[in-house]
Amino acid sequence: MDGRLQIFAGNSNPRLAQAIVGVLETPLGRAEVSSWSDGETRVRLEENVRGSDVFVIQSLCAPVNQNIMELLIILDAVKRASAARITAVIPYYAYARQEKKTAGREPISAKLLANLLTTAGADRVLTIDLHAPAIEGFFDIPVDHLRATPILAAHFRRLGLTDFVVVSPDAGAVVRADEFRRRAGGSLAIISKKRPGPEVAEVLEMVGDVAGRDAVIVDDIIATGGTLLQAAELLRERGARRIFAAAVHGVFAGQALERIQASPIEKVFVTDTIPLPEGMCTDKVEVLTVAPLLAEAIMRIHKDLSISALFT
Ligand code: R5P
Repeated sequence: MDGRLQIFAGNSNPRLAQAIVGVLETPLGRAEVSSWSDGETRVRLEENVRGSDVFVIQSLCAPVNQNIMELLIILDAVKRASAARITAVIPYYAYARQEKKTAGREPISAKLLANLLTTAGADRVLTIDLHAPAIEGFFDIPVDHLRATPILAAHFRRLGLTDFVVVSPDAGAVVRADEFRRRAGGSLAIISKKRPGPEVAEVLEMVGDVAGRDAVIVDDIIATGGTLLQAAELLRERGARRIFAAAVHGVFAGQALERIQASPIEKVFVTDTIPLPEGMCTDKVEVLTVAPLLAEAIMRIHKDLSISALFT
């Protein structure tokens, strides 16, 4: 599009924002994004955006609600400053696991968030690995939905393992695990998991043979780590040799990192859609960057080029 490219970022993932503008060789837009003394978010753009093609980068990780509010208020500021087009770049889309009612009288928070983003001023959304791809349909604006599985699979291939099994830790992760297997090699095993309560994972059974072989558990999110650790225990019981994990979004809530540290898992690969929590032991975690992927997508959107070329 004609307008000049300008990129702003909230405070959720400054390292990723810097890496993206580094790849694009463009400076990050100047803006004050801070708080009033009562905790309300305060935003002021410090440069003109009139007629520009503006991208606002914000991961909706912890503190989730604050980061959402920051993004909404930045979008509002950009809209009111007469940008020609605004794209919300959301490497990690929060509330995505609340995308349907599982019982009566529950909200559909992922849809509410989509409404809020549109109302605030987003004309487009660029995101990575939505927990449920159907969330794209919650928006009536274009959504470019990138996948990080190719980055994880390419890295895993470089380990040079020869006899390994790609493990889906639940039915919902099968498509992603199979995509990983297609790119990295190996065979597929599928675990059946149930959730007896919120944030409680219980492994039921596994289809596939892991005895005497290496295994890599592939998922979209590691939150409490419950799903991952239950899967790892089962793999160990069934005779797996080395156990790895690969996930797009390392939420690492609560004691997740300590639990991973004490688990049979040798290495966990995640991307930098979410910064690692500070002050925690992250010895087993290796972070791969999505900055070049997002930078390429931003440039393609700006130049009205195809995004599907990024999926090959
Ligand atoms: C399934 O619902 C998701 O794909 C992940 O398996 C889940 O969000 C991981 O959560 P946790 O680490 O708390 O088990």
